[in-house]
Amino acid sequence: MTTTQSILDKQKKHLWPNHLLYYGESPLPLAKGDGMYVWDSDGNKYLDFFAGILTTSVGHNNATVNKYMKEQIDNLLHTSTLYPNAAHANLAASMAEITPEGLDTFYFGASGTDADETAVIMAQVYTGNTEVIALRHGYSGKSQMAMSLTGQGSWRMGPVHIGYIRHAMTPYTYRSLGDIPEDKYVQACLDDLQDVIATMTSGKLACMIMEPIQGVGGFITLPPAYIEGAAEIVRAHGGLIIIDEVQTGFGRTGTHWWGHQHANITPDIMTMAKGIANGMPLSAVATTQEIAQAAVGKGLTLSTFGGNPVSCAAAMGTLEEMKREFNPERCAEMGAILKTGLDALYEKYPIIGEVRGRGLMQGIELVTDRESKEPGTVLANAVLNECKKAGMLIGKGGLYGNSLRIAPPLIADENHIAEALEKLDYAFGQAMELD
Ligand SMILES: Cc1ncc(COP(=O)(O)O)c(C=O)c1O
Repeated sequence: MTTTQSILDKQKKHLWPNHLLYYGESPLPLAKGDGMYVWDSDGNKYLDFFAGILTTSVGHNNATVNKYMKEQIDNLLHTSTLYPNAAHANLAASMAEITPEGLDTFYFGASGTDADETAVIMAQVYTGNTEVIALRHGYSGKSQMAMSLTGQGSWRMGPVHIGYIRHAMTPYTYRSLGDIPEDKYVQACLDDLQDVIATMTSGKLACMIMEPIQGVGGFITLPPAYIEGAAEIVRAHGGLIIIDEVQTGFGRTGTHWWGHQHANITPDIMTMAKGIANGMPLSAVATTQEIAQAAVGKGLTLSTFGGNPVSCAAAMGTLEEMKREFNPERCAEMGAILKTGLDALYEKYPIIGEVRGRGLMQGIELVTDRESKEPGTVLANAVLNECKKAGMLIGKGGLYGNSLRIAPPLIADENHIAEALEKLDYAFGQAMELD
């Protein structure tokens, strides 16, 4: 029989010890999921407000997604990209209905890492330039290029950094350059971008990659004026704009399908993963026909698992659910209810330094006191643990590990949000007492 202890024993013995596990000495083996809830291997139930890192977009065990997948499994499980298949082609056509105008051609992969790396290589091929700008506090994944794009030292395994990647200052408004107005801070960050290009590159760029809301960075929300200004600067140096929508895509930020659409720009390339297929491994890079065409004849490429028919079928079911009901408008509505509740917690608990984000992607940065803004790393761990005790899963992030990440499946309704706010209230109260 598989017991909780046997799972933990096997994990310890046969899985690399560098797997990051939540809850320290008491990791949580999950056994079952349904809708907004998951159960651990001892049968305890949890409200899921992290969605497997913003991935289970339309809820666990979603009937529509499962139906699409089961039909596909009974027909054809795998092809590789060497053979066209209906699921792959149908998904591309369906995605093109919601991607920004012009970005209607896709390369599917198996992870966000894969997508970001493919996007950067595509920008290099198209522009003929090599150098890349990324942002501090950003995250791109775990390949060597993705770790080099990542702007957080703690996520870089090993000392090697790809030298053509340079990092500009992130407009992290909560930790701005002293007490200056947001527009001046954004301008200072744009000046820094100009400076990085002038001092650390040849001036000829392949691209800049940025997340509209830096996910792993702790939901640092880029002001639209920064995204717009950076795009202008980078394009003036011949570079393309890659927007990483791995966390922010598919309506999560509310009102729009894509997180960057809160700013007035259209990217040249957009990457997606996580929420695309409700948890099945799939990622996508969207670009224009012109840019995609540039790679033809420049070297062979394939993906064994990219565009896997079952993953694509899961994505078709996920998209159907999102287009039908769990759309960006609903997400904005639910996000506003969540935000109101989190703002009330801000008024109550002085350990909350800032509530930020958009839609159903809300971050809470914890501090030991609001004056010094000393990161409340221990407090964040305490809240995470207390939430678990109260029967709720949330996420954590940020360079200092002091930002809580609240990002439920997009099916969350008023009742789920009320339940989450009650549990958070309890957890903050407990954490304050422990402090
Ligand atoms: C913004 C962003 N890009 C890329 C990635 C890498 O995705 P994956 O873990 O699927 O490789 C992540 C993962 O968290 C991410 O948050």
